Amino acid sequence: MTATLKRTDLKRIERPTGRVVWFTGLSGAGKSTLAGALYAELQARGVPTELLDGDAVRENLSRGLGFSREDRDTNVRRIGFVAGLLAKHGVTVLVSAISPYAGTRREVLETLPHALEVFVDAPLEVVAGRDVKGLYLKALAGELPHFTGVSDPYEAPEHPGLHLRTDRITVEEGVRDLLAALGEA
Ligand code: PPS
Repeated sequence: MTATLKRTDLKRIERPTGRVVWFTGLSGAGKSTLAGALYAELQARGVPTELLDGDAVRENLSRGLGFSREDRDTNVRRIGFVAGLLAKHGVTVLVSAISPYAGTRREVLETLPHALEVFVDAPLEVVAGRDVKGLYLKALAGELPHFTGVSDPYEAPEHPGLHLRTDRITVEEGVRDLLAALGEA
């Protein structure tokens, strides 16, 4: 016997497609802070959410990769691949990675059906002043080759879905803008 699917049946078996919020920006710009705060808010609202944070990814999925252009691109493509798998199952995925190359970001984001590119932006002197990990001090002293924004390029998005100036807004304001952009306000 051949089963025939009616239109109503098809509706019933549809699955939601999750979104990917891709935070890009310099080290210390506030990507992880904003992604973490948004994660907490979405979790509290019962939205299935996952966080793919740069440091955790590099400890696990991308262990052994360095900061050459090739390794960064590999890292970004791996993150995009995992984000796509999760999103396919209805998860809202928050990615936090410098992802410095515009072409690679575009290539990866184009494979993700519902992606929001968020440019987490603050001037170099501000992020270098924050220097949470002490890396800017070394990079500016010439001791750290290939450090993004100092001795390695960062290609800012020209048309991001959302542009957050973290030297001008609070984390709460950033999360409010993010929720609005996601239709969750
Ligand atoms: S990338 O370019 O997207 O693959 O980078 P990402 O995986 O986000 O890793 C960035 C964090 O690694 C630390 N780190 C460096 N960043 C930039 N350039 C160099 N050379 C480098 N070496 C180590 C840095 O602390 C970044 O942390 P965040 O969370 O961005 O502040």
